[in-house]
Amino acid sequence: MQPLAQPALDQLFFHAHSHLPCIPKPIEDETLVRLYETLRWGPTAANSSPLRVTFVKSAEARARLAACVAPGNVKKVESAPVTAILAMDLRFFEQLPKLFPLVDARAWYEGKGALVAETALRNSSLQGGYFVLAARALGLGCGPMSGFDAEAVRRAFFEGTELQPNFLCTLGYPDPEAPRRRNPRLEFGEACRIL
Ligand SMILES: Cc1cc2nc3c(=O)[nH]c(=O)nc-3n(C[C@H](O)[C@H](O)[C@H](O)COP(=O)(O)O)c2cc1C
Repeated sequence: MQPLAQPALDQLFFHAHSHLPCIPKPIEDETLVRLYETLRWGPTAANSSPLRVTFVKSAEARARLAACVAPGNVKKVESAPVTAILAMDLRFFEQLPKLFPLVDARAWYEGKGALVAETALRNSSLQGGYFVLAARALGLGCGPMSGFDAEAVRRAFFEGTELQPNFLCTLGYPDPEAPRRRNPRLEFGEACRIL
């Protein structure tokens, strides 16, 4: 494996920002399929893959979602061509015979509510990170959001299921001319140590 070239790193990290204004270009369904088919290869515990993604694209579904978000996020959902609901499936272990077939991994989780909830949150959040990076790799901009009413989203989109929303993420093609203001990040010595 070779390190990625600097332009690829710039696109994924150094020049990428959250909530950049988008150009008025729709996102094709094939791109959303490609996004999922890219991010799904990121690692999760026992390959459990608890993330479930709802791509909210139609005018009706966008209005339904906009009614569930914090006031400061309403315009973001209304103006984005697509907003994804990244949810975790609390029945993820039912897929383990397919996803991790060599041992009975389903038995590790079945009936163990606290472990299921912890595993679903940790691994769907990891998959959410893969989602952002996969979207950027495909040329899309991302606007992750935790400012929403999770119970309202659950009722509006997941009634009768065991899906729980984790976070939302707007998607769109960023305007290359948009001004980019970058907040600083912690320095290596503030956030890391090498023992
Ligand atoms: C899990 C998560 C939740 C966030 N929630 C919101 C939100 O509700 N509204 C918002 O405007 N931005 C939200 N953000 C965006 C962050 O503020 C932004 O990613 C961070 O300040 C870094 O900005 P940058 O990517 O432009 O450098 C969220 C980001 C993440 C990852």
